[in-house]
Amino acid sequence: MLQLPKLKIGDFIPNFPIVQGGMAVRVSTSSLAAAVAEAGGIGIIGATGMAIEEMRAEIREARKLTRGIIGVNIMFAVREFADMVRAAMEEKVDMIYTGAGFSRDIFKWGREAGIPIVSIVSSARLAMAAEKYGAAAVVVEGTEAGGHLGTDRPLFEILPSVREAVKIPVLAAGGIVNGEGISRALKMGANGIQMATRFVLSKECSVSDLFKKMYLKASPEDVTIIPSPVGLPGRALKNSFVDRLLSGNAPKPESCEGCLKQCSGQYCIIDALENSRTGRVDEGVVFVGQNVHQIKDILSVKDIFNNLLYELKHCLGATRVG
Ligand SMILES: Cc1cc2nc3c(=O)[nH]c(=O)nc-3n(C[C@H](O)[C@H](O)[C@H](O)COP(=O)(O)O)c2cc1C
Repeated sequence: MLQLPKLKIGDFIPNFPIVQGGMAVRVSTSSLAAAVAEAGGIGIIGATGMAIEEMRAEIREARKLTRGIIGVNIMFAVREFADMVRAAMEEKVDMIYTGAGFSRDIFKWGREAGIPIVSIVSSARLAMAAEKYGAAAVVVEGTEAGGHLGTDRPLFEILPSVREAVKIPVLAAGGIVNGEGISRALKMGANGIQMATRFVLSKECSVSDLFKKMYLKASPEDVTIIPSPVGLPGRALKNSFVDRLLSGNAPKPESCEGCLKQCSGQYCIIDALENSRTGRVDEGVVFVGQNVHQIKDILSVKDIFNNLLYELKHCLGATRVG
């Protein structure tokens, strides 16, 4: 029997210490999150880019599909951050993940509502601050991650210092696509892992087939870093939109709903992500993790879990971790 460390976030203990990272603008919706929760992990709805009512509907839909653990991910940079967090709490989501900064308030609201808050950090300093304010766990994300990045340092360089700095559970994220990566993180003291890119290439992820095809075709050279109007760099696949962006010719936003607290206005990140998700992959941004080239197939979430656990067993042998 494979002995894995127990990941405990608040009162929740998933069967497996595997979290599916939240992915904004409808990449991780109820269908993916529920499938992950049903397989024994923690499924996260990426709420950034959704209207509040849409997020509520996604949480309710996920609840219909599974009795497993469902969280939401809401980026701090979003103007409606506080209202979205409150709405997610009213929907009694199991936990809330937040990255790209945090305020002390969210931890207070989490305490009042009895809902664990998980902070996404990229340094020991931020992990300590999150623990001090009341985070239930931290996700330490290295530069290999997809989407917006908080560091240029690799995960396995940062992980030991974060592990050392805090007592709360630590989840390792960025570039983990198989059992070997999970095993390495657990052996270094992580209580669990978060992965996202692997789950995009699942049957349950609702992005367009063209988006998934770009992932499947990607070589290491196809992955690059782009500027985002959020003010952080992002990891994405090269395409003609990214060429335009990097040569200073990104299309100016046609309209603006003021969705971010601060926006450079260089281009509209929400439109760019929505374009690629719906199949206009040359007119948008395709966020991706650095190790996408290691994934060769689109599988059901259940089969992804079976493979990960099989590989993990092989990597861990009879050793007990944690
Ligand atoms: C398409 C995509 C969208 C993402 N959107 C978000 C997001 O909205 N909020 C967030 O905190 N992280 C986001 N991420 C980061 C993931 O949640 C995760 O931590 C990271 O990608 C882990 O690295 P991996 O993809 O190599 O597994 C996104 C990643 C991808 C690939």
